[in-house]
Amino acid sequence: MKTLVLTAHPNLNASRINKAWFDALSDATDVTTRDLTAIGGPELRFDVEAEQALLLAHDRIVFQFPFYWYSAPPVMKAWMDQVLNYGFAYGPGGDRLKGREFLILVSTGGPEHSYHAGGYNNYSMAEFLKPFQQTANLAGMTYLRPFVSHGMALATEDQIEASVPDMLAHLTDPDLDPKVKQARLLKQLEEDPTKAAAVS
Ligand SMILES: Cc1cc2nc3c(=O)[nH]c(=O)nc-3n(C[C@H](O)[C@H](O)[C@H](O)COP(=O)(O)O)c2cc1C
Repeated sequence: MKTLVLTAHPNLNASRINKAWFDALSDATDVTTRDLTAIGGPELRFDVEAEQALLLAHDRIVFQFPFYWYSAPPVMKAWMDQVLNYGFAYGPGGDRLKGREFLILVSTGGPEHSYHAGGYNNYSMAEFLKPFQQTANLAGMTYLRPFVSHGMALATEDQIEASVPDMLAHLTDPDLDPKVKQARLLKQLEEDPTKAAAVS
């Protein structure tokens, strides 16, 4: 399984959490990391053919970013607008990403409890991330459960450090693919119908 991590931070050197994740991912086996801000330069311009070739050389595409105004920083959107083209990611012949996995790694400033109905951010992360989910759907990719690290604006060094193994463990969780998880639960149920309540 080859993983391509596209990191969208306006200044990775000034980052705490995303830099820690980026460094750990850069050391991981079968993972290619890309600092999009460094690659796109001040104009946020990408070599579309090179970016598409990289996508095709990997099985899992990861978007990694700090949550900015309930979305990703602009370099992520610039990359998407330029690279996920008609005839490549969607439209006639646009099935080149079909069957690949898509995963988001995101850090927020706001605490976990704010991302609920009745919390001060009102909506869940699943709701805020829907445009990315539908991008994956349109391109025929499997949308995996995102990894979200909350309250990171004021995180201590210990919290930052602790998030790294959590993030790496998320990447290797076999249940990330909803189809795999459902199949496992159904098999469990078949083997032991008394577990029906636990499995549903
Ligand atoms: C321009 C900007 C917008 C932000 N918007 C949000 C936001 O909408 N929700 C949130 O929880 N945190 C928000 N934050 C806080 C960042 O998500 C937080 O500082 C970041 O995840 C820390 O990551 P880093 O250490 O890699 O920079 C924002 C920060 C900045 C600078």
